Amino acid sequence: MAAILPILFLLLSLTSMEASGNPAGSGSPPVPAVYVLGDSLADVGNNNHLLTIMKADFAHNGIDFAGGKATGRFSNGKNSADFISEQLGLSSPPPYLSVIKNAGDTQAFFNGINFASAGAGILDTTHDGECLSLSKQIDYLSTTYATMVEKAGNERAQAHLAKSIFVIVIGSNDIFGYKSNGGAAPKQFVSSLISTLQGQIKRIYNIGARKIAFLGTGPVGCCPSLRRQSETGECKAIANSISDLYNEAASSLLREMKTELGDMNYSFFNSTFAMQEIFKHPSDYGFTEVEAACCGLGDLNAKVACIPISSYCSNRTNHVFWDFYHPTEATAGILAADLVDGSGPHVYPVNVRQLGAL
Ligand SMILES: *[C@@H]1O[C@H](CO)[C@@H](O)[C@H](O)[C@H]1NC(C)=O
Ligand SMILES: *[C@@H]1O[C@H](CO)[C@@H](O)[C@H](O)[C@H]1NC(C)=O
Ligand SMILES: *[C@@H]1O[C@H](CO)[C@@H](O)[C@H](O)[C@H]1NC(C)=O
Repeated sequence: MAAILPILFLLLSLTSMEASGNPAGSGSPPVPAVYVLGDSLADVGNNNHLLTIMKADFAHNGIDFAGGKATGRFSNGKNSADFISEQLGLSSPPPYLSVIKNAGDTQAFFNGINFASAGAGILDTTHDGECLSLSKQIDYLSTTYATMVEKAGNERAQAHLAKSIFVIVIGSNDIFGYKSNGGAAPKQFVSSLISTLQGQIKRIYNIGARKIAFLGTGPVGCCPSLRRQSETGECKAIANSISDLYNEAASSLLREMKTELGDMNYSFFNSTFAMQEIFKHPSDYGFTEVEAACCGLGDLNAKVACIPISSYCSNRTNHVFWDFYHPTEATAGILAADLVDGSGPHVYPVNVRQLGAL
C-alpha cells in the first residue's frame, strides 16, 4: 500500500507536465517556457507597479479580455506576448513585478516571466516617466536566473533556459523618440541603437538564452498618432524609413551573432512586411478600418489616448489599431500566428515553432 502512493504521485506529475507543454499532436519536445522582454506591445502589467502615465490598467483597455478586465495590456484584449505563448501551448507568462510581490513563489520563474514595460526602449534614455528599460529587464532576467540556480542548481537552470524561447519586442519607442532636428542623422542614430542592442542580446545569451524570437518594428509611421500629424493622414515617412533601417540592421546583427556564437538560434519576424500585407488587403483579414484607432478622441481617434472618457468603436475585430499606438487583439493574433507558424520572406531563418523544435 505504501508503495502505491508515490507511484500514483509520479504518474500524476508526469501527466501534468505533459499537459502544460506539448501542443497536441506535435512530436517534438515541448518548449518549457517563454520569457518576454520588450515594450508596450508586450507589457502584461509591469507598468501597473510603476510611477508613470504609461499605464493601461483602466477602461476601455481590456474590454474584450476575460471578464472585460483592464490588466495593463494596451489592447482591447490579448497582446502578442499572450498569443505567442498560447500558440506554443503555454499560458502567457505573468509580469515580473507581480511575481516578485508573491515572494517565495520561485517555481513561477521556471514557468516563464514577462519583463516587458510600456515606454521602454533599447536606449536607457528612451522613456516617458518610469519604465523598465531593456537593460533593467535584463538585470531582472539575471536575478531570475540566480533564483533558478538556487532552487534547481546551475545545470538544470541552464538546460531550462537553453530550451526556452526568449521573445524580444523592442525599438519602436526609440524610433518615436528620434528627432530629426538637432539629433543625429538616421544612419548614425540606428547604428547607436544596434550597437547597444548587440550588447543587450549578448547579455541575454550569457545568462543562458539560446533561442531568440525577435520581432522587428512595424511601420511605426503608420500608427494613428503619427498619421494624424499629416493633413492627409499619410504615414510619417521619416519614422518608417528609420524603422526600415533599424530592421535591416537588427536582422544582420542576429545573423552575425549566430555565426559568432554558434549555438544561438533565432527567428526574425519582419513585422513591417506583415503589417503592409494587412494595409494592402485589409478585407482578407476582416478589417475595414486601417487608419483610425478604435479607442480615443479627435482626428483618427488619435489625439487622445484610450482613457475612460474616450469613445471606442463597437466592432473591435474590423479595426487594425486599438489606440493611437497599439494594435487590436485581432491584429496581434494575426501577427503572432504568422510568426509562430508562418513562412515566407518575412519569417526567417525559421519560424518560432521550428525554433522551439531545434
Ligand atoms: C521587411 O519587409 C519590407 C517590406 O517588404 C522590406 O522592404 C524590408 O527589406 C524587409 N526587412 C527585413 C529586415 O527583412
Ligand atoms: C542552434 O543551431 C546550431 C546549428 O546552427 C546547432 O548546432 C545548435 O545546437 C542549436 N542550438 C540549440 C540550442 O538548439
Ligand atoms: C465586425 O466587422 C466584421 C468585418 O466588417 C464583420 O464581419 C463582423 O460581423 C462584425 N462584427 C460585429 C459584432 O458586428
